[in-house]
Amino acid sequence: MSNLISHKADPLSGPLKVPGDKSISHRALIMGTMAIGQSRISGLLEGEDVLNTAEAMKAMGADITRAENSDWIVYGVGVGGLCEPENALDMGNSGTGARLIMGLVAPYPFHTSFIGDASLSTRPMKRITDPLSKFGAEFHGAEGMTLPITVSGIMDPVPIEYELPVASAQVKSAILLAALNTPGKTTVIEPTPTRDHTERMFEHFGVTISIASHGTNGKAITVTGQPELKARDMYVPTDPSSAAFPAVAALITPGSDIIIENVGMNPSRTGIYITLQDMGADISFINQRLECGESVADIHVKYSELTGITVPKDRAPSMIDEYPILCIAASFAKGDTIMRGLAELRVKESDRIAVMVAGLKACGVTVSEHDDGMTVTGKTAIEGGAKVATHLDHRIAMSFLTLGMRTENPVEVDDGSVIETSFPGFRALMNGLGARIEDKK
Ligand code: S3P
Repeated sequence: MSNLISHKADPLSGPLKVPGDKSISHRALIMGTMAIGQSRISGLLEGEDVLNTAEAMKAMGADITRAENSDWIVYGVGVGGLCEPENALDMGNSGTGARLIMGLVAPYPFHTSFIGDASLSTRPMKRITDPLSKFGAEFHGAEGMTLPITVSGIMDPVPIEYELPVASAQVKSAILLAALNTPGKTTVIEPTPTRDHTERMFEHFGVTISIASHGTNGKAITVTGQPELKARDMYVPTDPSSAAFPAVAALITPGSDIIIENVGMNPSRTGIYITLQDMGADISFINQRLECGESVADIHVKYSELTGITVPKDRAPSMIDEYPILCIAASFAKGDTIMRGLAELRVKESDRIAVMVAGLKACGVTVSEHDDGMTVTGKTAIEGGAKVATHLDHRIAMSFLTLGMRTENPVEVDDGSVIETSFPGFRALMNGLGARIEDKK
């Protein structure tokens, strides 16, 4: 555990780049492994979660190295080419790594065990094991189907059609990855669209995939299994979820003016920026372009006086990881910011509703907790001065360090080391802009 403390910041200024997108980085390593030959990945996130996925791919036969220019080189084994790992795959803190790779290995005739840290070991896996069982795989897990879990994969998997009962890109992606080594056509129906990086990556690698509209807003995604995939180079844009921390820091720190470069602008991920604009934030997108099938832009953010809003429930999937940092922006907004329809937040790296509400209250923010969200009532001066429990959750740690940049007294978090899972270099980057985040001795 390493405690960090955040003091009142100077106005933030300068151009900056946040690390690569976590969701795309996991998928780039997995898809590089599913292709035959050498794929080169530039911009890969070198956070602990993604490095655990790289280790898992290596344990099943891929050759993965980091080149001198910090590109990553993957020699894949091809669809059907994975081999049984000798040891349990340790996915650390990563729900995405665990769930996607469980899907990937389900249609292979071998056993794969998954372990993780204390946070990951409490997270629900039934949402994955239910659909993957329909392919024919079997799962043996701890009580309530949590990690450690052993997957007994199936030699002759059968394709499935499955409608997602919960809006989750991880569940969708687990099924789509299982479909890769399953003969025939597998269809996933998602009534509410979620991030579509897996679908875009499949298209990039030449997988036969068709996407039809379903119902009012939904999609039916069909993949034809057992393709022969050729290696492809990949470019990972920087992470819009990580960029939200300096963006909110600039919005709440008077005098700030920053440009965050090369940020992924996939519409299934940009809900936070639309919401902040709805609250009156001075945010503009410049230099918009397309890189390897993903849209990218530079984000210009200036300090702004914000007003609370009711965040539309149907926006949740496009900003599901950003509610903790939105709560920080809402703490300084005029009036109430009402965030509902967020039951999923209770099963993230921590129960993000309970943990945010406890931390905000400790810092003197007016907040009320609902079953499915929270309401934050903003004010111009917030006391701070508290020590916040992060519960092994990187986004909780970064959110409260951002809060401390504007509070009257510094805010401390009990464990800054978890930030390494998604945003290595967070503290140096923020301090380079004007923050004052230090070790708490
Ligand atoms: C992710 C999907 C989301 C998100 C997570 C990354 C992904 O989870 O919270 O950080 O890469 O597919 P759910 O699919 O469980 O909503």
